[in-house]
Amino acid sequence: MNHTETIEREQQSLFQTYKRLPVVIDRAEGCRIIDVDGNVYLDFLGGIAVNALGHSHPRVVEAVTYQARRYMHVSNFFYQEPQVKLAEQLKGISGYDRVFFSNSGAEAIEAAMKLARRHGSRNGVYDIVGFTGGFHGRTYAPLSIMDKPLYKEGMGPFLPNTMVLPYNDIDAFESRVDEHTCAVVLEFLQGEGGIAEASSDFVDAIVAARERYGFLLIADEVQAGIGRTGDFFAYEQYGIRPDIVVVAKSMGGGMPLGAVLATDAVASLFDRGMHGTTYGGNAVACAAGSVVVQEVMDGLLEHVRSIGAYLHSALELLARTYPQRVAGVRGRGCMQGLVLHEEAAPVVAALLERRVIANATAGNVVRIVPPYIITRDDVDAFVAAMEDVLRG
Ligand SMILES: Cc1ncc(COP(=O)(O)O)c(C=O)c1O
Repeated sequence: MNHTETIEREQQSLFQTYKRLPVVIDRAEGCRIIDVDGNVYLDFLGGIAVNALGHSHPRVVEAVTYQARRYMHVSNFFYQEPQVKLAEQLKGISGYDRVFFSNSGAEAIEAAMKLARRHGSRNGVYDIVGFTGGFHGRTYAPLSIMDKPLYKEGMGPFLPNTMVLPYNDIDAFESRVDEHTCAVVLEFLQGEGGIAEASSDFVDAIVAARERYGFLLIADEVQAGIGRTGDFFAYEQYGIRPDIVVVAKSMGGGMPLGAVLATDAVASLFDRGMHGTTYGGNAVACAAGSVVVQEVMDGLLEHVRSIGAYLHSALELLARTYPQRVAGVRGRGCMQGLVLHEEAAPVVAALLERRVIANATAGNVVRIVPPYIITRDDVDAFVAAMEDVLRG
């Protein structure tokens, strides 16, 4: 495998939809990615907040291999133990009654929005609300409640009865949400939006409006969920309970897997045959998911909290040392952002030259979403590289 040749062949054969890093992967282990020239990179992007247990975690590999040998895909015409096991794990942790499995975050959000419309259709109520800075996926339903012009340009019209309101703006929310609203979709900690947190007043206002109007509150935990923030779900910080919780990314341990968690009452809005997918709940993906969820509950959550606090204070020290370049630090656990006074993309490119991988989001934020298994040495290496870049 040759670095330049692979890049050239990619450019000739694939849709040019991705801005790829100039790295051709050979393999990846733990928190490290190794390219075809033998360069080793410290991975603080983790497959965009996916590889919670790092790359090719031995227990995930074992579970996937075991399941692949038994069977990989049989379709949802059949009862499958790996699905049932993972659903029971998620129920036990979350207290929700039922789980629907999808292949991705977008599909799970799509399912949640369909549930919301079913909920509202009983009273002729159809409006679904999203917020600025939110990211929910690239299919039409999620895009309809997002404000990203690049992702929507020339692709409309989008779903009717959808709107995007300003994040954390209580007045705007209260003036637009009413008895016509069937759902509000919220990232309690926005990932792509720049690791931006919902204020507790804002969440209280949403919950008060839910009581008044009876809409469903859908928590998009695709990026923040499954322990990434140090809580199993980011919404736990607010002491409230969403009606629907959507997860994906970290749960699959690198396999494509998403899920919708809901109460019996909400889950029963779908009758048999009303919703489904060929691959959703794929046995191999669920086998990987079971390992991830178990590892998170068997001590990793505490580690995310403590390593997250360590990372946070190191980043804050950087912010204090380079106030002319760093505006602040946001987020917690393994989901943090270094907010710059400048574009983040050149900083991220300079990190890559130092063999450290992170990513730029929301223009001026370096998004730091490493595997949960990072050590203090990994954090020190990341921060040293960042400091080297900031020093200029
Ligand atoms: C919060 C959030 N929701 C939904 C999605 C969509 O997930 P997927 O890319 O698996 O469709 C993402 C992906 O980045 C996300 O961060």
